[in-house]
Amino acid sequence: MDTLIPGQMLGSYRIISQVGKGGMATVYKAYQPSMDRNVAIKVLPRQLAESPEFAARFQQEARIIARLEHPHILPVFDFGESNGVTYFVMRYLEAGTLKTKMESGPLSLDEIDRLFTQLAEALGYAHAHGIIHRDLKPANALVDEHGNVFLTDFGIAKLLESASPRLTQTDAIMGTPAYISPEQAKAESVDRRSDIYSLGIILYEMVTGSVPFVADTPLAVILKHISDPLPPPSIIKRDLPEPIERVILKALAKEPADRYASAEEFLTAWKRALDETESSSQGAPEPKSAPASRAGMSVSTPAASHQPARRQTGWVVGCLVVACLGFSVAGIGILFFNWQAPAFLSSPTITPFPTFTSAPPLPTETLTPSNIVETLLTDDFSQNDVVWGTLTEPDNSVEYDGEALRMRMSVDNWFVWSTPNNEKYENIHIEVTVVNNDGAPNTAFGILCNQQEADESYYYMGFTPSGEYAIAKSETGETDIFLTNDDQWAVSNVVPQNASSYRVGADCGNGILTLYVNGQVIDSVSDNSYTSGGVGLFVWSGFEATSADVTFDDFIITTLE
Ligand SMILES: Nc1ncnc2c1ncn2[C@@H]1O[C@H](COP(=O)(O)OP(=O)(O)O)[C@@H](O)[C@H]1O
Ligand SMILES: [Mg+2]
Repeated sequence: MDTLIPGQMLGSYRIISQVGKGGMATVYKAYQPSMDRNVAIKVLPRQLAESPEFAARFQQEARIIARLEHPHILPVFDFGESNGVTYFVMRYLEAGTLKTKMESGPLSLDEIDRLFTQLAEALGYAHAHGIIHRDLKPANALVDEHGNVFLTDFGIAKLLESASPRLTQTDAIMGTPAYISPEQAKAESVDRRSDIYSLGIILYEMVTGSVPFVADTPLAVILKHISDPLPPPSIIKRDLPEPIERVILKALAKEPADRYASAEEFLTAWKRALDETESSSQGAPEPKSAPASRAGMSVSTPAASHQPARRQTGWVVGCLVVACLGFSVAGIGILFFNWQAPAFLSSPTITPFPTFTSAPPLPTETLTPSNIVETLLTDDFSQNDVVWGTLTEPDNSVEYDGEALRMRMSVDNWFVWSTPNNEKYENIHIEVTVVNNDGAPNTAFGILCNQQEADESYYYMGFTPSGEYAIAKSETGETDIFLTNDDQWAVSNVVPQNASSYRVGADCGNGILTLYVNGQVIDSVSDNSYTSGGVGLFVWSGFEATSADVTFDDFIITTLE
């Protein structure tokens, strides 16, 4: 592959050893005979060189990056291409990165100030030269033995985007989930304020010891940046002075316009907050307000903001499937409503042993050209733009509740509920968070995909809190078929039993259906009956059960990696 071996020459540099590997590149220590010095060489993925877009932009962008000259930006000495290998040559810095430094223990306020000041100054300088970093994270802040920071990898993310026609055409996501700005996560255009956000996350992490948004999958993290309220840093660090917290909250505003407009402004506000903190700590006891009230400041209060659904869809109840589909064209979430449990569900046999429980590889930390995904639809159910159909009945309801979509039934029933736009998708990954409100162990819930037009043909996959699962095919007029476990329910030990919430995931494409829980594969099957179609959610009251109460949140559809 791209691995270079010790002793091998790359241009005029002799490879000594591999020092690191990130999501999109490999870094080597090498020797430059002409200067009698060691250098670091960043080798980009080989396939990049084959992209004409990349070749055209590499020279141009690399030159701009190499021109950056600042005490806290790692100098780029050279760049080039040799036998299809594209590389940057940089100063070699042994000591480590801000990532490893933070992992080794909490930082004092003085240390944070020193590091943050250097980072903000370096960033301000680059912005003044028209370069947005786009992948600011502690792993890209090298730290020398004196504790000085050197920012690296400026503009590399943008350069890599140019390598893929798919990316330039569709604005795919680049960046690292834990540090990604909401606008970058939404694949919107970014400016320097996107870097301000990422720097804000780094500051948050330096102050509290952890990043604000953590989840089981990179996609879930991305979605949190887009729609979850920021957990105030004082929740983690109780004694955090309020002026400092205010600075962090402003840098991490979801809307770029609400953040600091420049790195200089961010730095000035930080210094002022430090001054305020110092002067107040010299006087009377801590003036800060109680953590609870401050938490309330930025944690949204869903109940208060709850609005009734914009569309009344109660009249969908009881309609025929075909009629419902007619409504869906008008943008209403389709309801397939059935007063009887479907035939396949009437006598499920539970197999005592899991059929497939192998753990998948962990998600990679960085989204790179090889595993880039495009976000096709996200919905946090706050009803900002996407409104699913609702249903209000004594025994059956689907309603917005606390910025989530809650489905309830107090009879034996099931809901299959499609996305509002009823858009067709092909080769996709879907995720949704599910909370089983009443704790009923038999309630089945999950995702459907490749729903065919005007009939009950689709795939669905899901599980129960007690660990039974199925990946199934529904076809109009036919009994459903479980594609997993010989048409029987299976049991998985990957599903945490009776958890308070589950991140349900599904891959649907290239003839393969895969069901996930919390980023781990439960099972995977191949079937080619439907290759594209609608997407939705489902709930079933369950085997020998007559009620269900499930809440769905943070729904996302992306392309497959
Ligand atoms: N100039 C350098 N000198 C020494 N080590 C470096 C240098 N640049 C990068 N590294 C090391 O190589 C690793 C991989 O770098 P990179 O490919 O940029 O991935 P990432 O930034 O995601 O960690 C870094 O985490 C760092 O430990
Ligand atoms: Mg890096």
